Amino acid sequence: MFRIPESIANLGRERIKGFPVEGFVYGEGPQKPELMLIGEAPGEFEAVDGIPFIGRAGKELMKSLDSIGLTREDVYITSTVRSRPYKWGERRERDGTKTQRKYNRPPTRKEILAHAPVLDYELANIEPKLIVALGNFGLQRLLGREAKVTELHGQLLERPIQFLPDLDSTTFEWTDRLYRIVPTFHPAAVFYRPSHRPDLDADWLAIGEMLKRIGDGESEV
Ligand code: URA
Repeated sequence: MFRIPESIANLGRERIKGFPVEGFVYGEGPQKPELMLIGEAPGEFEAVDGIPFIGRAGKELMKSLDSIGLTREDVYITSTVRSRPYKWGERRERDGTKTQRKYNRPPTRKEILAHAPVLDYELANIEPKLIVALGNFGLQRLLGREAKVTELHGQLLERPIQFLPDLDSTTFEWTDRLYRIVPTFHPAAVFYRPSHRPDLDADWLAIGEMLKRIGDGESEV
């Protein structure tokens, strides 16, 4: 099992202070995994337990892994932001009373920059056969804001990726080396858009085929 050093985790905790987020979820998996999966940010359950993708989206993700003969233990799971971004909202109870609760929200650019050194550290140290970007947040963190899952899903891309050149920087730079990346939909996408299901399933089967080809000795990028 690979675990980022505490110094990197503490840097992440320090840089995200003051933003409306909670918890800190470490990436999880082997240093040389079949796949490195990059999601968006933890949800409520993940933030409480500190384990990535254990909620509803996680169950969906495990089904996709299972469809190509993989389990959680075979892959390194991480995300663009490691704390749960929340916003306060009202919930109407059955008896008509209103209570305040935290809802998930997408991470902001500042939060993505705050946790960029954590993901950069993982990208520099994990050696997956392929990186799978789960949804636009993971994808755009790697390939910039022009990259769209709807256009690129299921394709094997061999490209430089973005990294934060220093801790004070607010813009990314591009790596010299190329990374193998396959974008697909975030597993939660099928909850609000079930029409993505056939594409999502086909993308995962294609990822399974790519892994077989790489396993058969296709050369490194
Ligand atoms: N979405 C993510 O990106 N990560 C999780 O752990 C859960 C949902």
